[in-house]
Amino acid sequence: MAVLTIDNLSKSFGGIKAVSNINMMIDKGDVVGLIGPNGAGKTTFFNLLTGMYTPTSGKISFEDLHLNNLKPYKITDYGIARTFQNIRLFKNMTVIENVTLGFHKNIKYGLLASFFKLPSFYKEEKRVYSEALELLKKFNLDHKKDELAKNLPYGEQRRLEIVRALASNPSLLLLDEPAAGMNPNETRELMELIRWIKKNYELTIILIEHDMSLVMNICDKISVLDYGTLIAEGKPEVVRNNPRVIEAYLGRNAAC
Ligand SMILES: Nc1ncnc2c1ncn2[C@@H]1O[C@H](COP(=O)(O)OP(=O)(O)OP(=O)(O)O)[C@@H](O)[C@H]1O
Ligand SMILES: [Mg+2]
Repeated sequence: MAVLTIDNLSKSFGGIKAVSNINMMIDKGDVVGLIGPNGAGKTTFFNLLTGMYTPTSGKISFEDLHLNNLKPYKITDYGIARTFQNIRLFKNMTVIENVTLGFHKNIKYGLLASFFKLPSFYKEEKRVYSEALELLKKFNLDHKKDELAKNLPYGEQRRLEIVRALASNPSLLLLDEPAAGMNPNETRELMELIRWIKKNYELTIILIEHDMSLVMNICDKISVLDYGTLIAEGKPEVVRNNPRVIEAYLGRNAAC
């Protein structure tokens, strides 16, 4: 069953067609790799899915919803969460504060309760805190809960960003180059982590990644973008032997 359907999606910036007439269907529960050379339009595609950019044309359907003109916070509420190519944490807040912020859509006190610090406010704060701690435990970050996010090693900051995204209880998780800047050990751990998330959460994952062994190892399917166009999609073993894909990568590398 498709959780996400993309119809003829395009996004132009002046003369640049960053995303060009993409059609795609993502099945529920799959881990889908989104790959392609630098500037291929991968991050732009995520920015369109999350409402950071409005499509120039085309349609994005998520479950039964039409997402095109929704604000980012509404899209989060409907169940799409993401991480960013350049880590975006509240660096001067603690680890657990970063995660409790991710819970915002599940918070059940009103503005008045928050303003007047009514008992319902404290009760809800306590619940959110203990759920955030539970989540940190699952990802082996609970012992760092009171550290400032900026003081975590790089790999743990990336992990924390994923935990914060999961706090909003998404059904679609978008990971933008989560292994960027990681050493081989951290990358291996990340691969295990994504496998673990797939097994333990009912979600669909789209993973933008340049690390081919990571992508080939954990993805059920792969979609390949080049100059904003979808040039190939399918199972990893099929995509890796596709001549257009090899050309998009090797051709570009050879020119460097
Ligand atoms: N806000 C913007 N304004 C103008 N051009 C943009 C904007 N965002 C992206 N682009 C352009 O769109 C194209 C696609 O960029 P995008 O960041 O989506 O590529 P990418 O596939 O994520 O690349 P990378 O692997 O380097 O992260 C590039 O030519 C980029 O310069
Ligand atoms: Mg990018």
